[in-house]
Amino acid sequence: MAEKPWDGRFSEKTDKSVEAFTASIAYDRRLYPYDIAGSIAHCRMLAKVGVITDEEASQLVEGLGTIKRELDHGKFVFDDSLEDIHMHIEARLLQVAGKVAQKLHTARSRNDQVALDVRMYLREETRQTIDLLKGLRTVLVDLAEAHADVVMPGYTHTQRAQPVLFAHHMLAYYEMFFRDQQRFNECLTRINVMPLGAAALAGTTYPIDRTYTAELLDFPAVSANSMDAVSDRDFVLEFLSAASICMVHLSRLSEELVLWSTSEFGFITLSDAFATGSSIMPQKKNPDIPEIVRGKTGRVVGALMALITLMKSLPMAYNRDMQEDKEPLFDAVDTLKACLSINAQMLPRITVNRDTMRRAASMGFLNATDMADYLVGQGMPFRKAHDCVGKAVAFALEKGKELDQLTLDELKPFSQLIKPDLFDHLTLEHMIDRRQSLGGTATDNVRQALAEARKVLAAGEAA
Ligand code: ARG
Repeated sequence: MAEKPWDGRFSEKTDKSVEAFTASIAYDRRLYPYDIAGSIAHCRMLAKVGVITDEEASQLVEGLGTIKRELDHGKFVFDDSLEDIHMHIEARLLQVAGKVAQKLHTARSRNDQVALDVRMYLREETRQTIDLLKGLRTVLVDLAEAHADVVMPGYTHTQRAQPVLFAHHMLAYYEMFFRDQQRFNECLTRINVMPLGAAALAGTTYPIDRTYTAELLDFPAVSANSMDAVSDRDFVLEFLSAASICMVHLSRLSEELVLWSTSEFGFITLSDAFATGSSIMPQKKNPDIPEIVRGKTGRVVGALMALITLMKSLPMAYNRDMQEDKEPLFDAVDTLKACLSINAQMLPRITVNRDTMRRAASMGFLNATDMADYLVGQGMPFRKAHDCVGKAVAFALEKGKELDQLTLDELKPFSQLIKPDLFDHLTLEHMIDRRQSLGGTATDNVRQALAEARKVLAAGEAA
């Protein structure tokens, strides 16, 4: 069993059950690249301000490099008695670099060390998440552009409402993911703050240069209050909030893909490579990917709930409870990235069944609002027009016809304002193209929105 770096005042050995219960090494080992980079920067800073010599710093940096290679190549031996990744690396450094290793932890505590590691980890993962979101937005724009003239029913209450362009529907998701990307970008500014040097909670007696450490680790800012630096995880909560919202967007998209791929809808066909079968029903082709994405949303929202609850009653400053931040965070990060990535791979390979969509948009009185708008154009107040068309719909339902299948003679009794040109107003193309209000589904609007999206994507901007 390894010696504990903190056991000077202890007269009994830690019980095995305590070691197993308190150890976080099984999961926090993934922080090692950041822990080592943080330690290297810390050594260099300590040498710069004269707390250790340049020679000592070089020995420490060299030893840390060796340990990094061991970890990279799976040659590192883990041991529960060393609790966490920070103590593992420090203990190994003693073996690799000798007594000088005992100087590494000068002017530092595991409290600011772990805060640093989590921030470095999360800023990297946030950047990757942003890249994945960019990729997904590009896929949505490609999909919209490739089906620019496809008309489908738009829904409210899952009831057919008004026709929209399929491209417009896809661009709605583009907007959601764009805002998600902006949210992650904003998170990044608050994640990217350097906490090292806060030490246990109160700062340190050594003449450290935190700005220099921040520079070495590419942090644009340094935390202003040592207690805040080690005690808050609001940057994790923010990330998880953004991740939860993003997962909700993915889940809604998934729900639609599941519905659309049913024989009842038949709007899309998933590629065989992105669907799975049933072990008993030979005819089945199941939309497991969107289903699993929809299901995984609960995990990410659950991580947010877990950590927001974890933090809610913690007194200042560091509390060991905070060790519990890692598993939910890591799981949420992995889950979100996997869901973004699989969607970006699956969506380009769906088949859009344009005829089925068009047929669905032509049935179910999706032109009723347009008939009311026509009557308004003839001088009728909208409420009256609404009532008049409602009655025509009831009549058509009785006849088993659509509004545009009724004859002029059948329609006239509902209003004398109805002229033969009404029928031009009830075609899908007319309905789509009349919706030219800003943000509406008219073909020209959607074309412009696509061009704008392309421009924004090409500029590589999140804002
Ligand atoms: N493994 C610990 C965590 O994740 C590191 C900090 C431990 N600090 C302490 N004072 N025991 O929170």
